[in-house]
Amino acid sequence: MQDRLFYPYLNKSYPEIVKAAGMVLEDSEGKEYLDACCGEVSSNIGHGVPEVIEAIKEELDKVTFTHRFKFTNAPARQLAGLLDELAPGDNNRVTFVSGGAEAVEYAIKVAREYFIELGETSKYKVVSRWQSFHGNSLGTLSAGGNISRRKRYSPMLLDFPHAAPHNCYHCPFARERTSCSLECAQDLEQVIRREGAENIAAVICEPVVGSSLCVSVPPPGYWPLLRDICDRYNILLVADEVMSGAGRTGRFFALEHWGVVPDIIAMAKGLGGCYIPLGAAIMRDKIYQAFKNNSGSFAHGHTFGGNPVATRAGLEVVNYIINNKLLDNTRNLESYLLGQLRLMEEKYPEIGHVEGIGFFAGMEFVRDKETRQPFDPSENITNAVVDTALEMGLVLYGSRGCADGISGDGVIIAPPLNVTRDDIDAIVHRLDDVLAKVFL
Ligand SMILES: Cc1ncc(COP(=O)(O)O)c(C=O)c1O
Repeated sequence: MQDRLFYPYLNKSYPEIVKAAGMVLEDSEGKEYLDACCGEVSSNIGHGVPEVIEAIKEELDKVTFTHRFKFTNAPARQLAGLLDELAPGDNNRVTFVSGGAEAVEYAIKVAREYFIELGETSKYKVVSRWQSFHGNSLGTLSAGGNISRRKRYSPMLLDFPHAAPHNCYHCPFARERTSCSLECAQDLEQVIRREGAENIAAVICEPVVGSSLCVSVPPPGYWPLLRDICDRYNILLVADEVMSGAGRTGRFFALEHWGVVPDIIAMAKGLGGCYIPLGAAIMRDKIYQAFKNNSGSFAHGHTFGGNPVATRAGLEVVNYIINNKLLDNTRNLESYLLGQLRLMEEKYPEIGHVEGIGFFAGMEFVRDKETRQPFDPSENITNAVVDTALEMGLVLYGSRGCADGISGDGVIIAPPLNVTRDDIDAIVHRLDDVLAKVFL
């Protein structure tokens, strides 16, 4: 039979993975790959955890599907309860969806309707930052600031304003971490003032920027200042924890590192651990109360959201993270991972810097380390590294545009939260071989 799949890159061949355990994948030819980026920074507990697979089978045997507009189910209630315990502050109301874009879209819509419930009907815009990614639906692309992913759809996008990102290695305000006065957060405030706070429902940001900035960790005061700005202008603060959440940074939610309570959290990816599509929007009590005390409904949803099989998988994944102390493992080995990656900087002048938190590490490649000048995009350095890695049995996540939105090359290394020191060594050795092939 002819292969009728419409692949993303039409001139590439795609290996077929037939077996996977932990972070090791095996293709139909028997070749092994180390998955150093958990698929799309998403298979957070690795492949083949028996407890999760058994739980999904058990749930399927009971009931394959019910829809949340008509029925409730125990796994969804239990997972919502667990997320309430884990989430900062009074983020205690949860709606389940099937992925990151759906979670962000939900957050945008619930923010809009929250203000309608309160009679503040002019508030609808969402402010975000350039070089952030929030999903590939038209609503979430409008909020996002990834230039290449927006480009072809720009005539179709909504007029959501964007502020400068925190991008400390290529600071748009020419500051260093030591001389920073949080100009990027101040820029966001200026955007709000220019647009008029009366028109703005929400600010959405990734706590640690992943795909578009090759892992950018914010300066310490950044999130507390965002919280303060949103409070002063009566705007909801949405944390897009789709990539940074579910333990990736060594805390269940990345925002815990800065002690900030957002109004809405969007999560997905690691929540279902990629055993099944699952996402969630977690909201503060005041949002729930606004609906409860006014119209009494927020009936936005998609067919598969909150179905019992998906939520049972999520419940097992989150319990697995907690019971196996994977947050401790991530925090204990974080400096080892980052340290081993940084050691490679001595050998390869093309490595501009390594930045990260938990098991969320970015390695950026530059033409000139002294001036931090990026490679020209036409050189396709990210592709060269990612493709060579795949040939050599290493799976890396490529990040493009991390310098200024157009130039900038790097890869994200994000192993499962249950890896050992030996697993990290295996990844680093293979990465060394890959970089030698590309750069030496
Ligand atoms: C921060 C962030 N938000 C949203 C999304 C969209 O998630 P999904 O691909 O599940 O729709 C992504 C995907 O990479 C992401 O990194």
